[in-house]
Amino acid sequence: MKIFSRLRTRCGHLNLKDTLRNNVGVRYFSSEFKLWSQRIFSGIQPTGNLHLGNYFGAVQRWVELQDSGKDVIYSIVDLHSITLPQDPEELRSNILKVAATLIACGINPEKSILFQQSKVRQHTELCWILGCRTTMPRLAHLPQFKEKSSALKDVPLGLYVYPVLQCADILLYRATEVPVGEDQVQHLQLAQHLARNFNNQYGAVFPIPKALVGDSHTSRLRSLRDPLKKMSKSEPDPRSRINLTDTSDSILEKCKKAVTDFTSALTFNPEERPGVSNLITIHSLLSGKSPQEICNECASLDTGRYKLVLAEVIEEKLKPIREETVRLMADPVYLKTVLEKGSEKASLIAEETLLDVKNRVGLIAL
Ligand code: AMP
Ligand code: TRP
Repeated sequence: MKIFSRLRTRCGHLNLKDTLRNNVGVRYFSSEFKLWSQRIFSGIQPTGNLHLGNYFGAVQRWVELQDSGKDVIYSIVDLHSITLPQDPEELRSNILKVAATLIACGINPEKSILFQQSKVRQHTELCWILGCRTTMPRLAHLPQFKEKSSALKDVPLGLYVYPVLQCADILLYRATEVPVGEDQVQHLQLAQHLARNFNNQYGAVFPIPKALVGDSHTSRLRSLRDPLKKMSKSEPDPRSRINLTDTSDSILEKCKKAVTDFTSALTFNPEERPGVSNLITIHSLLSGKSPQEICNECASLDTGRYKLVLAEVIEEKLKPIREETVRLMADPVYLKTVLEKGSEKASLIAEETLLDVKNRVGLIAL
């Protein structure tokens, strides 16, 4: 009883007790036939700087979805980042830096809910409930787990459970679409599986979330040092990625050092020439020109001179983002307030879902 009245005062307009009562025992023919309102959810880890892969694989679309008036929720997923060791001071500062960079890229806290995952305790609670419905082999086969755990002698439990927490993030907000890079598709498949599995037993609690993945080039930018790998925050060599806050000197240096091949002409062939094609893809994403147009325009340049042109195009795009990030970082009080307000809004939605879930599972005495 207490829980309902507490919640009712927090979410004034909702009559949750009635909602829960009405839902008990309801079975829908299939949750996929229920009409859910469109809601977008996505998350990013506060480990290191955001790079061009994050921007084109995720953040650019986050901004487009926000600006087209959709109901959007974006989370700085700090609980995911501690699945691998983090220095506390660095983590603290990275949370604010990611917030600053997202705002500098166009995330507007008036239009989007932007919040810090660990401030909304319902994520870990739902993770536990979903974890009780997830089998070990399903998690062990996920490619990101295999990749990250292969380098470790002792694998932390958190790294193994990580995808279940990600499912909880998505399902807690009853998200219908999740904009992510290609590397997250298997995690989205797990979220779909868990949503269906839960709905089959308890009724239409969750929409089946869809991954919004760009085309195969945008959704997987490659490392500048090893074009067979993806551009990643966790790659030890900092020259492998261009961060959104890199200085013009650093952009130039990284472009010059980008690994290509022994052919000096500029051609776009991602299979045969992954290094140079990755650079052309970045250029194409930044300029809106097709890879072929770029090759035609720069036909007189060898790859060495082309890298200098590319560095200029990157600098032009990143300069305003870098400057705005630096400006925002000088105002930590503002950034903390944004995250605080975002967490309050997110908590209201999260609590409503979690109560429904706990009720269906039988954890609440009516
Ligand atoms: P993370 O850096 O792992 O927190 O990823 C945040 C978002 O950026 C996720 O949606 C990833 O799929 C996306 N992402 C990360 N690296 C890349 C990349 N190299 N190319 C495209 N998208 C990426
Ligand atoms: N696992 C994602 C990544 O590494 C981050 C993430 C956590 C996420 N929770 C999420 C992405 C929920 C989308 C939705 O990039």
